Amino acid sequence: MRRESWRDDAARWNARYAATPPAFEPHPLVKQACGVGFPDGPVLELACGRSGSALALAARGRRVLAVDTSDVALRQLRTEAHRRGLGGQLWCVLADARAFVPVRGAFGLVLATLFWDAAVFRSAREAVAPGGLLAWEALAESGEAGATRFRVRPGQLAAELGERWEILAEGEARTPQRHGTCWVLARAALR
Ligand SMILES: C[S@@+](CC[C@H](N)C(=O)[O-])C[C@H]1O[C@@H](n2cnc3c(N)ncnc32)[C@H](O)[C@@H]1O
Repeated sequence: MRRESWRDDAARWNARYAATPPAFEPHPLVKQACGVGFPDGPVLELACGRSGSALALAARGRRVLAVDTSDVALRQLRTEAHRRGLGGQLWCVLADARAFVPVRGAFGLVLATLFWDAAVFRSAREAVAPGGLLAWEALAESGEAGATRFRVRPGQLAAELGERWEILAEGEARTPQRHGTCWVLARAALR
């Protein structure tokens, strides 16, 4: 049987994004991250979709690099950024996050919400600047969904960070569609 490629997945996301109007709501983790503060420098958002988080961070003067495999989502995001006068703050990159290698230690904040890939998480971790933040939310394993490589167990995100990290907050939440999630906000050591 043929293994599904990221292009099939992107086509599914494109159809979904084309069929529904964007809300451009920032994720609550952005408010938390801004509340505790993070170093100057760009922000990286992986699997950003039509990210209200990227827009909110750009509006706060941050340069944001937003990566997704859906060209429809990125076009909608770019259009909205230009409409808000934020086009110069936001770079949209059409790429598979598993093949995208961010510069080590370059980002004050690395963010991903409703996305999980263990290898991407590891490279995201390395991309955070000393003293910077990693903010991540992924779908949680559940009785119905069971364990899949796209879901995490409670506590797993913090456990995968290791000694270089201070866990500022972690928890469980639900999406508007009532899917369970796990999230973490953590700060990288200064060196
Ligand atoms: C559940 S949506 C989350 C979007 C956004 N982060 C949010 O919280 O609303 C998952 C997103 O991941 C993107 N995606 C899936 N696999 C990806 C990959 N390998 N690399 C980059 N983006 C990916 C999809 O296109 C989609 O926009």
